[in-house]
Amino acid sequence: MLPLLLLASSVVLVKAQLSANETSWSCLAESKGVHVPGSVPCNPYEPLQQRLAYGGPNGMTVSWSTHAQLETPQVWYGESPSALTNVASGETVTYPTSRVYDNHVKISGLKPNTKYWYRTSYQNCPGCAYRPTDTFTTSRAAGDETPFTVAVVVDLGLMGADGLSTAVGPLGGSKGAANPLGPNDLNTIQSLLENKDTYEFIAHWGDIAYADYFIKESWQGYFGNDSTIVNMTSVVEGYNSLLEQYYDQMTPLTSSKAYMVGAGNHEANCDNGGTTDSVNNITYTTSICTPGQTNFTGYINHFRMPSDVSGGNGNFWYSFDHGLAHFIALDTETDLPEGLQSPDEYGGSDAGADSGPFGYPDQQLDWFEKDLASVDRTKTPWIVVGLHRPWYIASTKNSSSNVCLACQTAFEPLMVKYGVDLYMQGHIHAYERNKPMANYSVDPAGLNDPKYPWSIVNGAAGHYDGLDSISKTLPYYVDVAFNTAYGWSRLTFHNRTHLTHEFVSSANGTVLDSATLYKEHNFGSWW
Ligand SMILES: *[C@@H]1O[C@H](CO)[C@@H](O)[C@H](O)[C@H]1NC(C)=O
Ligand SMILES: *[C@@H]1O[C@H](CO)[C@@H](O)[C@H](O)[C@H]1NC(C)=O
Ligand SMILES: *[C@@H]1O[C@H](CO)[C@@H](O)[C@H](O)[C@H]1NC(C)=O
Ligand SMILES: *[C@@H]1O[C@H](CO)[C@@H](O)[C@H](O)[C@H]1NC(C)=O
Ligand SMILES: *[C@@H]1O[C@H](CO)[C@@H](O)[C@H](O)[C@H]1NC(C)=O
Ligand SMILES: *[C@@H]1O[C@H](CO)[C@@H](O)[C@H](O)[C@H]1NC(C)=O
Ligand SMILES: *[C@@H]1O[C@H](CO)[C@@H](O)[C@H](O)[C@H]1NC(C)=O
Ligand SMILES: *[C@@H]1O[C@H](CO)[C@@H](O)[C@H](O)[C@H]1NC(C)=O
Ligand SMILES: *[C@@H]1O[C@H](CO)[C@@H](O)[C@H](O)[C@H]1NC(C)=O
Ligand SMILES: [Fe+2]
Repeated sequence: MLPLLLLASSVVLVKAQLSANETSWSCLAESKGVHVPGSVPCNPYEPLQQRLAYGGPNGMTVSWSTHAQLETPQVWYGESPSALTNVASGETVTYPTSRVYDNHVKISGLKPNTKYWYRTSYQNCPGCAYRPTDTFTTSRAAGDETPFTVAVVVDLGLMGADGLSTAVGPLGGSKGAANPLGPNDLNTIQSLLENKDTYEFIAHWGDIAYADYFIKESWQGYFGNDSTIVNMTSVVEGYNSLLEQYYDQMTPLTSSKAYMVGAGNHEANCDNGGTTDSVNNITYTTSICTPGQTNFTGYINHFRMPSDVSGGNGNFWYSFDHGLAHFIALDTETDLPEGLQSPDEYGGSDAGADSGPFGYPDQQLDWFEKDLASVDRTKTPWIVVGLHRPWYIASTKNSSSNVCLACQTAFEPLMVKYGVDLYMQGHIHAYERNKPMANYSVDPAGLNDPKYPWSIVNGAAGHYDGLDSISKTLPYYVDVAFNTAYGWSRLTFHNRTHLTHEFVSSANGTVLDSATLYKEHNFGSWW
């Protein structure tokens, strides 16, 4: 049962769902082969939101969503588009208040760094949107010396109604967008699409979609002034429509590139639960939050990260190799032995998010050390870690929920001990490139073979109401920081010794910052 929501009958709110005519328009569009992002397809079996995740050196997980339950989700695949002769089957899952079933099929026994063509289940689906046969390329074997590039985003959602906002919400709000897009600017999803051929996979270290902001966006006028949120049904529709719209918009990317994700606070919390609609003078409590919005529920159901083959835990912590690099995803939201087991402990809008721990008290840290110790640096000299909350920041948003000292205490000593090269974070909605450092001590070597890890905070991908302010005087440990552009990170692994990080402005593709890390990486046995 849904919790009952009591609102004064005089209250009129803006709803975040499509009007009746838009719905029928989208249904008409669907019948002609076009899926309208965020809409419920006329044919509920339509396969949507195709997304890929590396599944170890010889595997790939294909996930997608349908509005009706498939008996057996299946993927047909092969090395030629005209010979999808293999088939793999998987599972279908859902949860209360979801509008979709999430289907997951893991394919094993694949060759590394090989292109395959695939199709997800299409049964019972006449009139579905037409899709080309999709392709994926498996991960590079550990030790493959070919240079490669990766796109990294943190804090990426839809900006405004459809991700194309050029203005702040027309009804304002306590905090209007600080940096709305210009009329001819691309947003980050579009920029990633435009640059799709330049990187091999996408990593997204938390805060995915921001659908939990939909009431806030509604009363701020992002969805227009019409209609109402009057009951829990319309709340659920509004939230899900926004979430699905994000995944639909990402589909041209995620259907052909692995999309490796990590948990952020917005995978667990429900920002609606602490928001005040200042137009209608309503303060929402967490009773507005549905099961699907809290507790990492959507996140757990939607993705299948390769923790099974890396000894990790669900989508929360795991690792994978790709060429010369070993990538590790960590969870800053729960399971920190140093004072944090669940997101509720952060307080603020995380209160009521209610989930975790996902392991026994030291499980994440035990795994992290074991994983680091098992890396064969002769094959993967680079170790790169992705995690959501930062600890060294240049922003003025200097509070305990933004600067995660418990995360630092938990993870930094191991990063130093095992010579992690780079860790990337977000949560602060700005770009900050720090100096290699540990425990507040800057490495005197700088980027020229430092012994301490390098850290980059880039939460500028696309937070709906703008970017965060930067301290007037940058802290001593920061090399570059700015909040004047939405953008994403492009990491290029040239060889064993050189790694370049670039900040790409989503607006126009310009590289606004570039720095190269040199590491001698002399691990001996490969001489
Ligand atoms: C839908 O569109 C039709 C024709 O444009 C119009 O007559 C009708 O009133 C609209 N219905 C709603 C619910 O807006
Ligand atoms: C939406 O409401 C605002 C404030 O009431 C008003 O200024 C604006 O014109 C309205 N916009 C539309 C499209 O009705
Ligand atoms: C909830 O609100 C929606 C949209 O206004 C309306 O269509 C629906 O009938 C309402 N449902 C209930 C159970 O009141
Ligand atoms: C807003 O609502 C509160 C009670 O919920 C009331 O005390 C206050 O006067 C209202 N403010 C306005 C501007 O209506
Ligand atoms: C959160 O998920 C846990 C299982 O992971 C479950 O025991 C708990 O009841 C859930 N809480 C809510 C509020 O749904
Ligand atoms: C953040 O706040 C703490 C505690 O007040 C202070 O020690 C620290 O210098 C601040 N950091 C920045 C970057 O302002
Ligand atoms: C960090 O440095 C402080 C002294 O500045 C020391 O007390 C603390 O133990 C150090 N922490 C680690 C993890 O090295
Ligand atoms: C590209 O966008 C950035 C902001 O994102 C801006 O500073 C720069 O001037 C733009 N460059 C061009 C060539 O338009
Ligand atoms: C590694 O790549 C860097 C950057 O492209 C290049 O300058 C360097 O010469 C390369 N090193 C080797 C050993 O090829
Ligand atoms: Fe965040």
